[in-house]
Amino acid sequence: MTILITAGPTQEAIDPVRYLTNRSSGKMGYALAEQALGMKHRVILISGPTQLDIPAGADFIPVESAREMFTAVERFISQSDIAIFAAAVADYRPTSVPEQKIKKSSETMTLELVKNPDILGSCRDVFHYQGVLVGFAAETEKVEEHARGKLLRKGCDLLIANDVSRQDIGFDQDENEIMLITAEETIPLPKDSKKHLASHVIKEALLISQEKAEQ
Ligand code: C5P
Repeated sequence: MTILITAGPTQEAIDPVRYLTNRSSGKMGYALAEQALGMKHRVILISGPTQLDIPAGADFIPVESAREMFTAVERFISQSDIAIFAAAVADYRPTSVPEQKIKKSSETMTLELVKNPDILGSCRDVFHYQGVLVGFAAETEKVEEHARGKLLRKGCDLLIANDVSRQDIGFDQDENEIMLITAEETIPLPKDSKKHLASHVIKEALLISQEKAEQ
């Protein structure tokens, strides 16, 4: 099988030396890549900037901005049987990026932002992807309800939901507590290392892939 994984944050340029980003470490996406490689699958890892080592054996596509990630996914997704979207893509980017560094002048400054493309949300309608689609949902309230809505809206087969209002898990931590959500069921998993959770996610995605093939 070929598994495409997006991981890490995106960086949205403000000027040549500044950018907007978020606290994603990339750990979950890289753990998914490691697990899939360990099971001898081909991995296409499309990653925003992280401090992590590139998993040995992965086809590694480094990107910076959401738009670059969009283009990379558009180019490679048709090669994959399963696509897992673990990246924390910036929802907005600065409307325009000057060629020169912005000088400090007035006391206040306003940054205008424009919406980035929804990469996961483009898979079915824009990229016409037919493989197994796995999304992540970072929620702060009504976690299961919001995640189930996202599963349907984005045409996912599987959605991994986590509660980011908790300090002990999630962003930049080695552990997480997640729910696997499909159209039929919700499987809550106890708090565990991202490595172990990644193996559950890959196994569930492979199971769904098998079920789809038998239909
Ligand atoms: O809508 P929301 O950002 O909460 O959705 C999260 C899911 O969508 C994650 O799987 C994330 O990787 C993906 N996503 C994306 N492109 C965006 C925003 C989110 O692929 N612009």
